[in-house]
Amino acid sequence: VNHQDQDSLMAYQWLTKFYHHILEHAKESKHAKDYLYNRGLNDEMIERFQIGFSPEVQELTPQFLEKKGFNLQQMVQSGLLMRNDHNKVYDRFRGRIIFPIRNHLGKTVGFGGRALGDDEPKYLNSSESSLFQKGKMLFNFDLARSAIKKEKQAILFEGYMDVISAFQVGIENGVATLGTSITDTQASLLKRYVDTVVICYDGDHAGREASYQAAQRLKKAGCDVRIGILPTQLDPDAYIKEYGAKRFKHEVIEASSTYPAFTMFYFKGKYNLQVEADQMAYIDQITNELATVERAIDREHYARELANQFNLSIENIVEEIDKKRSQNH
Ligand code: CTP
Ligand code: MN
Ligand code: MN
Ligand code: MN
Ligand code: MN
Repeated sequence: VNHQDQDSLMAYQWLTKFYHHILEHAKESKHAKDYLYNRGLNDEMIERFQIGFSPEVQELTPQFLEKKGFNLQQMVQSGLLMRNDHNKVYDRFRGRIIFPIRNHLGKTVGFGGRALGDDEPKYLNSSESSLFQKGKMLFNFDLARSAIKKEKQAILFEGYMDVISAFQVGIENGVATLGTSITDTQASLLKRYVDTVVICYDGDHAGREASYQAAQRLKKAGCDVRIGILPTQLDPDAYIKEYGAKRFKHEVIEASSTYPAFTMFYFKGKYNLQVEADQMAYIDQITNELATVERAIDREHYARELANQFNLSIENIVEEIDKKRSQNH
């Protein structure tokens, strides 16, 4: 780590404390704290995740860093602070809830800042740097690691609040890709610690598309993948709030789909199965997927489901899958 990175790293640790202290103790932060309470977070999670608030008063953050001995010009250069047209240094997170993003060693390397209201963008993130590369890390990996190892299973979420809400109800093996789809680096990182990854993205269209992508990447990395499916209008955080932790565990995590079952469901949304040509395309697509399934009895299981669904003979489907398998090899 070079000198400048060393300074940034230190500045991130100080800022984590600063924002967190402001959330906990400044009376100007009451609305921010109420926002978090209204979303169902408790003090223990605010503490555990060192959630903070960036003050509305623009000068406070630069003043704090200066007092701690940091060079403001350097802070601007490394993206921790901004400079406006009037040459004034300011904190771009002002007025936002702060979620510290920690690396695998538990050190803050970036922040996610959430708007309190409907301001756009909903989240602002620290700029990427040599310290903070979104695609190479997973949110909460440091805290989740021991639970992931113990349970030999990780849950992959989209966002901060999904991880934290799950953590609050005792599901401590959750990590997040922070909205972007999982990279090969992140997939291999998980593979080192787990057998199974349960993808638990949002129920909306974007979440479903991202689930399919993530499933393929994780499979490629050698993970056993499962996919939790949520009602379209909910994400994991909202689901837990609406239906409780028990139902989330049983009906989403434990009931998560295997990869082949998920693809059968996923591609149904892509075709109009009332139309004959679409039916053919669907069957072609699913037999492609089933051709990648390792175990013969698993292939047979899903082949039977497909056969029943379209009133076809299982022999023909198995033959088709085997043909595709031999082409793949
Ligand atoms: N995200 C981002 N910038 C945005 C929107 C989203 O970086 N403008 C990232 C955040 O890490 C966010 C994740 O993508 O947590 C998932 O996005 P989304 O589902 O839209 O947000 P939620 O996590 O559900 O946020 P909230 O519950 O606070 O509304
Ligand atoms: Mn505290
Ligand atoms: Mn989403
Ligand atoms: Mn969401
Ligand atoms: Mn949400």
